[in-house]
Amino acid sequence: MASFSSLITPISQNPKILLTNSNHSNCSKAIPHGFPSLGFGFGVSQHGRSFKQMRRIVTSSINQNEALVGNSSIQTFDIPVLTSSDAIERLKANRENHKGKQQFLAMYSSIFGGITTDPAAMVIPIDDHMVHRGHGVFDTAAIMEGYLYELDQHVNRIIRSAGMAKITPAFDKETLRRILIQTASASKCRNGSLKYWLSVGPGDFQLSPSGCNQPTFYAVVFQDESPSSYSKGIKVITSSIPIKPPQFATTKSVNYLPNVLSKMEAEEQGAFAGIWLDNEGFVAEGPNMNVAFVTKQNELLMPNFDKILSGCTANRILTLAERLVSEGKLRGVRVGNVSVEEGKKNSTEMMLIGSGILVLPVIQWDDQIIGNGAEGSIAQALLNLIIEDMKSGPPSVRVPIPY
Ligand SMILES: Cc1ncc(COP(=O)(O)O)c(C=O)c1O
Repeated sequence: MASFSSLITPISQNPKILLTNSNHSNCSKAIPHGFPSLGFGFGVSQHGRSFKQMRRIVTSSINQNEALVGNSSIQTFDIPVLTSSDAIERLKANRENHKGKQQFLAMYSSIFGGITTDPAAMVIPIDDHMVHRGHGVFDTAAIMEGYLYELDQHVNRIIRSAGMAKITPAFDKETLRRILIQTASASKCRNGSLKYWLSVGPGDFQLSPSGCNQPTFYAVVFQDESPSSYSKGIKVITSSIPIKPPQFATTKSVNYLPNVLSKMEAEEQGAFAGIWLDNEGFVAEGPNMNVAFVTKQNELLMPNFDKILSGCTANRILTLAERLVSEGKLRGVRVGNVSVEEGKKNSTEMMLIGSGILVLPVIQWDDQIIGNGAEGSIAQALLNLIIEDMKSGPPSVRVPIPY
């Protein structure tokens, strides 16, 4: 039987496993990276060939069942059928073998009705419609020096998103809040992130949620690099991936494929993020952040929130920026339509704003250098204000975690 480690090795990295087409030509090739490593799929190969027509050929003599077809041998894998304790052992081994930059510290699941600190147990049922239909919503709150930042604003938003997605929350708002605070406490995390999901829950693999009788709530606390570690000016591009229609862009659902593709497109072009324009060509938002500008008239200008996600950080920045107005550093604060021309040519500063990055100065958008090409003083002042707010702001934005 193939060892566990060989089963979890991506096939593209496993020289023993090759593909050939069913007419036994010599053009065998490795399975493309990312293709499921076990079982016959129904996808189409890079060369347009159905994988259903293909056979896996094992060229070495590893101990597996073989049958002869024509002049080629096909084999089936001895995939083990596991007991639940074996499966858990393998989940643990998998976690040990794939440690990323983020540390997963605690998870709450309404499925098991408790909190676990074992990353191997941080799993959700495959029949949860959030997994196979994207019928779930989520939100994130930052943990800063032992406080949850803007917890209530983020909880209000997930409840709003759940309403838009026709998901009945598993618990009322007060209970959701209590679970989140207790999960943060169990994690012992003092600086990190709390991410949480409301879903229609498990039940079946249908499209309709009518067979889901148990809406679910999941939350996870993880530690990442501090968002304030981002401060150097970055480049953005105009995204060629279509923006979500307003009904979906204003809902924070788990359907982030356009956002992912937009981010990947930016990275492929050496940029940090893609900027979406709305259906009228006005500046919209980034894949997980809002956008703001400082105009030549020295106003802070942000696109309307009616067709994009109403960012909790962006809204807080609009309030905090009033301090810069009273200090005479800004002439005013405005939310309205922003044309590309205005953003690119009539602004002295551009910045990205979100809970993952806080305030990040943009120094280039496509080929256009923004302002004088250096990080701006208003972006820096807003970053300082939000960090100060996270560390010592009012109780309306800081909820203490009782460790
Ligand atoms: C599409 C999108 N826009 C904006 C934001 C910024 O929102 P917030 O400041 O609440 O993190 C996010 C956050 O994830 C987002 O996904």
